[in-house]
Amino acid sequence: MDLDPMLLPPPIRGMMYTQMALPNLVPLDRPQQPYVDMIEQGGLHCPMDGVAFTFSRELTDFVLRNHELFSSAVDLPLGNIRPLIPLNVDPPKHSLYRKILDPLFAPKRMDALEDDIAARANRFIDNFVDRGECNFTDEFAELFPSAVFLGLMGLPWDELDTLMELRNGILHPERINPAAEDDVMARFGVMGETGQRVYEYFNSQLDARESSLTDDILSHFITAEVDGERMSREEILDLCYLFLIAGLDTVSDSLTCMFAYLATHPEQRQFIVDDPDSIPTAVEEMLRWESPVPYGIPRVATRDVELPNGTVIAEGTAVSISFGAANVDPKEFPDGFDVRFDREVNRHIAFGGGVHRCLGSHLARRELRVAIAEFHRRIPTYQLKPGHEQLESPTGLRHFQNLMLSW
Ligand code: HEM
Repeated sequence: MDLDPMLLPPPIRGMMYTQMALPNLVPLDRPQQPYVDMIEQGGLHCPMDGVAFTFSRELTDFVLRNHELFSSAVDLPLGNIRPLIPLNVDPPKHSLYRKILDPLFAPKRMDALEDDIAARANRFIDNFVDRGECNFTDEFAELFPSAVFLGLMGLPWDELDTLMELRNGILHPERINPAAEDDVMARFGVMGETGQRVYEYFNSQLDARESSLTDDILSHFITAEVDGERMSREEILDLCYLFLIAGLDTVSDSLTCMFAYLATHPEQRQFIVDDPDSIPTAVEEMLRWESPVPYGIPRVATRDVELPNGTVIAEGTAVSISFGAANVDPKEFPDGFDVRFDREVNRHIAFGGGVHRCLGSHLARRELRVAIAEFHRRIPTYQLKPGHEQLESPTGLRHFQNLMLSW
């Protein structure tokens, strides 16, 4: 079923353009040179009324820093019935949420999870280490972040299928109903039904924690307070909903980008095998180069705004920002096409910037570092499986499906 984009609200129009038309201009499998081309053409792309994209670091930073001019309080059609917290909330309320949440995701707390994260990674590696090959996407990248979430949320391992099903229903509805691939209404149907299940699922988990608090993150959501204020049950549910969307595919997709890179750059792979201490800077550099979350959620201009390049963006326009382009902008990274695992200063914005900068960045880093360390400890030499050199990169975030590795 075809939908006329001009009948849709600008943020949804922008999201549809990002999914359907933009990949022709900036292909997701190799976006870096096209990003620079967009920057050299002015760094701003306005494909239709009410929709704009920033590509240069300067314009993207401007949007990120001026949250009062570009509101994130937009309705995203992801099966949710209320705004996602804290992504679709503007300051000052947003700052209150972050004050409550930031300490729960601080680096120290994430350090404490490291052994548990490593044990979960090894459980998947055990399944294929002796086979000499794996479908890295399906057998590791897709499952591992959900397994880590089970630990974080105090859920047993056998809830993995449920979590994956809920995630798929929101982010990959075509896996639940193939008709959702091309039919927008079928897509929204699966998302709506799954959304209802997501609220029910977390509601019952929260009921259980209310009667017996533990040390897991759900219990902390219930008890955390700032200035004597706690989050309401609805607020916690809206937060959990966002976690399902923001915290799983982002890590899965990053892993497929990073392992595709390492499998095709043996000298870089050898660099981290020889010196595992380089993994943290290598992860930062691959986050910069790959930028698995290529675009931010659309922000809406709260009034007519003049950008630093003199262009006026009309009130109501949905403005999307390209983190990926900003990360190879020659003004910020004069040697941006050199992927250097020992890069010391790396001001990339793969985790966003401004007030909505990723809440889970420390957890994500831990997951990526541990996954890379454990995999290379046990499987130091590997390549794309012969016959599978052609990488498949469908729309969505940047990722590679069916990444076949052999050793
Ligand atoms: C490598 C993995 C990840 C990447 C690349 C990533 C990237 C991002 C980016 C770019 C944003 C900003 C979006 C925007 O401003 O439009 C963001 C926000 C967010 N991310 Fe992540 N993310 C990752 C993993 C995670 C994980 C594991 C969690 C969960 C713990 C998480 C939770 C969030 C939340 C809650 C927000 C919204 C923050 C706010 O609005 O204040 N992310 N992420």
